[in-house]
Amino acid sequence: MDREDISYISLFAVFVTIFLIYATRFNDKLKNELEREKRETEQLLVNSDKLATVGQLAAGVAHEIRNPLSVISGYIQLLKEDHKELQHVDIIDKELTRMNLIISEFLDISKPNSMQLETKDLNLIVQQVVTLLNAEAHFKNVAIEIKQPNNAIDIECEENQIKQVLINLVKNGIEAMPNGGVVTIELLEEENEAKIRIFDEGTGIPEEQLATLGKPFYTTKESGTGLGLMVSLKIIENHRGKMLFSSVVGKGTIVEVILPQKNVSEGKA
Ligand SMILES: Nc1ncnc2c1ncn2[C@@H]1O[C@H](COP(=O)(O)OP(=O)(O)OP(=O)(O)O)[C@@H](O)[C@H]1O
Ligand SMILES: [Mg+2]
Repeated sequence: MDREDISYISLFAVFVTIFLIYATRFNDKLKNELEREKRETEQLLVNSDKLATVGQLAAGVAHEIRNPLSVISGYIQLLKEDHKELQHVDIIDKELTRMNLIISEFLDISKPNSMQLETKDLNLIVQQVVTLLNAEAHFKNVAIEIKQPNNAIDIECEENQIKQVLINLVKNGIEAMPNGGVVTIELLEEENEAKIRIFDEGTGIPEEQLATLGKPFYTTKESGTGLGLMVSLKIIENHRGKMLFSSVVGKGTIVEVILPQKNVSEGKA
């Protein structure tokens, strides 16, 4: 081995050492990175677990509150019968009814999600909802008009939940027109999607409030719970659909509900 060989070997040894140092550092870095990711995932799991527990507790509490609430309601009714002159009792009664409504809506959405999907024609669902709401609309000087195609629009849905959404949306339309007007429900099919558009000629919603729609307890109404849209959004989300709002203050609001059509939802399932 001559001097040149020795210097090559030394150089090689230096390279190997440098490589090993870097490899070790890289390995440490990788280990730290993996450690950090593991800790973050664990934290996420703990948090989501906490949330689920809080949700369950809240549902339990809501359920427990409902029983004393109905007992109090019962006694208020008796009090009202015996003391018709007590005006305050009416207010207590109204507020109790409101609390009951809030709790019932909360319990409805916190129920475990076991949807029984069936194939239904949206045309029929809309007609039934309109039949239900016609009396109230008429009383408030509102006409409800339906524009629908001649063919069936089949969707996979839990019928009562979709009806609940339509009732909430049409009621919001009616309530937005204190001086009466027309609520139009338009049904159409586009690119394997069923679309329901609900137009009103009401007060409209200011742009900065559009983002607030669907947040729990957001209401501008004296006797509103502010849960109607939240529940509706949740139901549509569970049906793998979307709900979009557009509005012009002083002109009216359009709510568009988009649902996957039957054959499409089967394909994705
Ligand atoms: N079509 C609409 N026109 C104008 N404002 C609307 C319309 N729909 C919803 N809003 C606004 O959004 C708010 C929230 O609606 P949401 O249905 O969630 O609750 P609410 O109607 O106030 O009460 P609830 O439905 O529980 O009786 C309403 O108070 C109103 O300010
Ligand atoms: Mg409402």
